[in-house]
Amino acid sequence: MKANHYDAFAASYTADNESNLLNNYYERPAVLDLVGEVEGRHVLDAGCGAGPLLAALQAKGAKVTGFDASSAMIELARQRLGEDATLHVADLSQPLPFTDGAFDDVVASLVLHYLQDWAAPLAELRRVLKPGGRLILSMNHPAIYKIFNPSADYFAVTQYSEEYTFADGQSAVLTFWHRPLQAMTTAFTDAGFRLAVLSEPPYASDTPRELISDLGERSSFLCFIFFVLEVS
Ligand SMILES: C[S@@+](CC[C@H](N)C(=O)[O-])C[C@H]1O[C@@H](n2cnc3c(N)ncnc32)[C@H](O)[C@@H]1O
Repeated sequence: MKANHYDAFAASYTADNESNLLNNYYERPAVLDLVGEVEGRHVLDAGCGAGPLLAALQAKGAKVTGFDASSAMIELARQRLGEDATLHVADLSQPLPFTDGAFDDVVASLVLHYLQDWAAPLAELRRVLKPGGRLILSMNHPAIYKIFNPSADYFAVTQYSEEYTFADGQSAVLTFWHRPLQAMTTAFTDAGFRLAVLSEPPYASDTPRELISDLGERSSFLCFIFFVLEVS
């Protein structure tokens, strides 16, 4: 996937993200829960998109900085956050425009699965964290690829594409990299992180019933996986 791929459907993705089950009632609440208290902390959102997580972190008292490879997504984040957030167009696969140890925490929601090579991006995210800092990650759950592609090799790092239709009817093909769970955790430790939390959380308790009518009594479903890493 080209780094600026989201330019073509930034507004459709963003409107969908703000009301759907997977982002609004599952991924974002789960990340905010893992992040916990951030009052007074300087938090970087890597692949911040249109900034819904930045806005929520700001509301919790964090000083926030975000970057995204898509200039259209950053423009939407600017409209949302005004002058109160520092925003950059930058590519996570390249050196980042921040000094060493600039941040208390980094969050990277649903972005690492777009990258084939994790070594340099994880090294950059570690470089910009303070000693004792945390990296909070979400990404496609590694089981998903195997569930939808039963004959595929789970253990191979593999590119795959899925077509999405957003709530306004616009469609987009998103291209991801699958990697097995052990390749994820090995990349984290190789980059100098300690795994503090691995989470497969429930959806949020305020999720409208009509969004989860298929789930019966289940409080969780397989979709994303979440990690909290600490600088070791
Ligand atoms: C699924 S969206 C998630 C946006 C936001 N984190 C959220 O949860 O609302 C993925 C975002 O990652 C960005 N992205 C993809 N590849 C990137 C890269 N190499 N560097 C920086 N951002 C990237 C896209 O432009 C898009 O805004």
